[in-house]
Amino acid sequence: MKRLIPAALLLLAVSAHADNYSLPKHAVFEEECASCHMAFPPQMLHADSWRAMMGDLAHHFGSDASLDEKRRVAITDFLVTHAGGRKTGTTRDASGKPLLRITETARFEKKHREIAPATWKRASIKSPANCTACHARAAAGDYSERSINIPK
Ligand code: HEC
Ligand code: HEC
Repeated sequence: MKRLIPAALLLLAVSAHADNYSLPKHAVFEEECASCHMAFPPQMLHADSWRAMMGDLAHHFGSDASLDEKRRVAITDFLVTHAGGRKTGTTRDASGKPLLRITETARFEKKHREIAPATWKRASIKSPANCTACHARAAAGDYSERSINIPK
């Protein structure tokens, strides 16, 4: 028993200084939500945002991402269960509607304040939603500075 304590403390210390965006396991989510882009961490949006997005998958950022009802409900439950809390910052637009983009949340904007508008538009990046262009280990939930590389 005694030997478990230092390991537990170490784990606490690690999670206290780095946000954990590792992806909770969910087979249906991985199948359906990681084909057009990487699987975005549920922790990065508020539950209201996930509900709003999952309520209109036929008009998903210009794509049709519709699912059968069983899968839609299973994924919604998963996203809502792991959704981010206050740490995501403002998650509603000026009219009070839930934001649908992680890249429009106050927290995202704050973390990426130093990136120039022209950088987002580079051919190697294309969109702020293309996390893996700069965060090599994004799919593993690792956004730490040591794995950031902004492509030319
Ligand atoms: C048919 C392709 C397709 C599928 C399937 C799909 N998406 Fe998307 N998704 C897109 C496109 C296109 C965008 C916009 C990307 C951009 O702006 O660069 C997007 C954007 C997003 C964003 C916003 C990214 C940002 O800007 O912060 C989230 C969150 C998201 N998708 C979640 C999901 C979830 C959850 C699922 C599974 C239910 C899903 N997507 C399935 C095509 C898809
Ligand atoms: C153009 C490159 C680029 C893209 C694309 C990008 N980021 Fe970042 N991101 C950065 C840089 C650079 C930083 C570090 C900012 C700093 O520390 O000053 C950062 C920081 C972060 C952090 C904070 C990490 C920490 O340790 O505090 C998170 C979380 C993050 N990004 C998530 C995302 C997500 C999610 C996406 C996609 C929706 C994304 N990023 C897209 C360049 C990018």
